[in-house]
Amino acid sequence: MKFQASKGTYDVMPDQVHIWQHIETVIREQARIYGFKEIRTPVFEDTALFVKGTGDTTDIVQKEMYTFTDKGQRSITLRPEGTPPVLRALIEHNSLKEQPYAKVFYLAPMFRYERPQAGRMRQHTQFGAEVLGSQSPLADVEVIALLFFTLQKLGLGGLSLRLNSLGCSQCRPLYRQKLMEYFKPMLPGLCDNCQERYDRNPLRILDCKVDQAKFKAAPEMKDFLCGECKIHFQTVQDRLKDIEIPFTLDKNLVRGLDYYTRTAFEVVSQHLGAQDALGGGGRYDGLMEELGGDPTPGVGFGSGLERYILALKNQGVNLPLEKRPDVYIATLGDEAVKKGSLLCTQLRQKGLICEQELLGRSLKAQMREAGRLNARYVVLIGEDEIKKGVVTLKDMDGHSQTEVPLGELVINVLKYCQCE
Ligand code: HAM
Repeated sequence: MKFQASKGTYDVMPDQVHIWQHIETVIREQARIYGFKEIRTPVFEDTALFVKGTGDTTDIVQKEMYTFTDKGQRSITLRPEGTPPVLRALIEHNSLKEQPYAKVFYLAPMFRYERPQAGRMRQHTQFGAEVLGSQSPLADVEVIALLFFTLQKLGLGGLSLRLNSLGCSQCRPLYRQKLMEYFKPMLPGLCDNCQERYDRNPLRILDCKVDQAKFKAAPEMKDFLCGECKIHFQTVQDRLKDIEIPFTLDKNLVRGLDYYTRTAFEVVSQHLGAQDALGGGGRYDGLMEELGGDPTPGVGFGSGLERYILALKNQGVNLPLEKRPDVYIATLGDEAVKKGSLLCTQLRQKGLICEQELLGRSLKAQMREAGRLNARYVVLIGEDEIKKGVVTLKDMDGHSQTEVPLGELVINVLKYCQCE
């Protein structure tokens, strides 16, 4: 029997991993600059956390969770999204008692039982960030800026930000009611998904890909926003303009999670297909309380790294190359192998990427290997070199070579490599 990675999952093989590491480094650096501290929560949680947090009317909870009963008869779910676990952890550790607000980020795998396609996996990796404890529209702008400028920093182009306000517990109920009145007569002509959503979450009918064209005259949330929500939304837009993040208002952007209030946003890429959201998020002022914490406003985003890579490739961005070895040590004869292996360790201790032959192959095969690895220099130690107490240092780019006394090699190679 041949095993394969499970459907909707993938391996990052060693020749690709540097791309991931590069993206992760940029993300960590950006998060640090914006003052977000990393948080790491478990890969699985009690199922009830997501039912309550993500919301039992969402597709995630209804259809997509990896849920199982463990040997202690507990219902456990592999984390489908990062927000409820982060809030659970902050509540559990009383984090907001020690500081007025918290800014955290995560870089972690998420699991959703979805129909796999380009940009939609059953295990995906999210960079997410959350600000807990601030009602200020500046917090909304801060998370949007962190997402948007990180994507830009990575070389992603063709980005656009879609923005909407979903109102609050004061103003949304009336809007919901008006929306239901509007949809009611057309309901029999709408798709199964819309019909299902009518009672559960009528706002989500608005982002139906099949029927959306029929809703041109639907009531708009902006006409129902209360005074405070209006000011909040306007301030978010004004501050985004100040920092030159272009956006479009999208009255149909409702997002697939139950907890959003006020700001909702998505950053999409023109270099992706149907799954074009590189990231999305919004404000969720009632969620902390819903999960048993003190009433605490919150805002954040999640974004999928698999989609970053897809968009970068589609866009034709030169992804960073794997770092080449500084030195390959080719040896012939027992004495040379001993000297070579010692040199290899000495060069590594000086911080150079150094490879040596591990299969005892011929010099010719070792030179081929150095070429395959794209080593910058080859240190060649054969019987002649041992007799003369030197090594041959081959410059693989300049196609030249010099003899260097063995004792001066480390210092010489270091000098060459550091000049580059
Ligand atoms: P979400 O929109 O469900 O939001 O996911 C965030 C991002 O994760 C998406 O925009 C997409 O880039 C990526 N993503 C989601 N599902 C998949 C998948 N199956 N395969 C590949 N990528 C995927 C959330 O998860 C919220 N927790 C975001 C948030 C944080 N809102 C407030 N704070």
